[in-house]
Amino acid sequence: MRWIDTLEAAAAEKLPEAVHRYYRQGSAGGTSVGEATAAWASYRFRPRVLRDVSTIDMSTTVLGTPVNAPVLVAPSTMQRMADPDGEIAMATGVGAAGSVLGVSSNAGTSFADLGETGVPWWLQIYVVRNRTITERMLDAAVPGGARAIVLTVDTPVVGRKEDDGQTVWELAQPGQWLKNLPEGEWSDDDLDKADDLSPDVIGWIADRTGLPVVVKGVLRGDDAKRCADAGAAAVIVSNHGGRQLDGSIATAQALPEVAEALAGTSTEVYVDGGIRRGEHILAALALGARAVFVGRPALWALTVGGSTGVTRLLTDLGDELSHTLRLSGCARPGDLTPDLVIPGEPGLL
Ligand code: FNR
Repeated sequence: MRWIDTLEAAAAEKLPEAVHRYYRQGSAGGTSVGEATAAWASYRFRPRVLRDVSTIDMSTTVLGTPVNAPVLVAPSTMQRMADPDGEIAMATGVGAAGSVLGVSSNAGTSFADLGETGVPWWLQIYVVRNRTITERMLDAAVPGGARAIVLTVDTPVVGRKEDDGQTVWELAQPGQWLKNLPEGEWSDDDLDKADDLSPDVIGWIADRTGLPVVVKGVLRGDDAKRCADAGAAAVIVSNHGGRQLDGSIATAQALPEVAEALAGTSTEVYVDGGIRRGEHILAALALGARAVFVGRPALWALTVGGSTGVTRLLTDLGDELSHTLRLSGCARPGDLTPDLVIPGEPGLL
């Protein structure tokens, strides 16, 4: 059995039930979270043969930052419940693997402390109803060394999770999350997500921070184009790990349309959701993603093995990608092209 496949069960042994449920669950009926991995697995490959694959080079850049492999860590909340050092442990693990960390705006670690790690990190934000709060977060991220702002756009309201019993919010201690908000100066209403945004918000963030803006949560080619036209440096094809509109199409299914809409532009395309194996990464790169993000596996790895667990997860996935590149007849991600992949089961793709 792969170590990666043991992680969730091992994490469940260590975590309070409410935290494990919070990490794993999707919204509403759980359709999208349930389909995500199967959609990647439904692709079929048309490997090339008689190519020199003696040397595999997986290194690439994301918005100019070099990474050892195109496998990054998605932003997620409540990391201090997985490991007492939370985002710092996650960052240390990511740094040792030569990757990039997405940091949730709800993080339980100050941006200044994250900056001290020296690990490349991108701040994910929600624009909230009280714009001053968003501004203060953006303003704190810049001196903290964030290299990009990841604007999550699939959350005009938070998707309903069907909880049963104690929730993670009841368990959370002050300081375990929302560490970057000025204490006592905000109410729950202030943090309601803004539901009246337009693509103009992309330029507003870029101007305020001087950083590239990555739009997270795009599932359609026309929206990807609107983001690029408004100045987005990248988009992440994402359905938020199946935690927003349940029944949203799998990202494996959405990626080709988005990649096609942005072909020939300088806007980079990334994807997340259900990516668990080298073959899934291979398909994503062939279909036009420059890199993939993993969400839950990083939380499980952090729970089970702390920072070294995160490093192992990323290196294991990189090793699997290297192996599948060789089997596909491609020596580097840049050799992958869409003709390498065809949809498999018509039911899913
Ligand atoms: C998330 N995700 C998320 N996304 C975001 O933009 N801001 C956030 O604060 C969070 N928080 C969060 C918490 C937890 C527990 C999970 C599981 C996910 C979504 C995340 O960035 C990513 O889109 C998905 O997790 C990717 O899917 P996989 O890899 O988990 O299947």
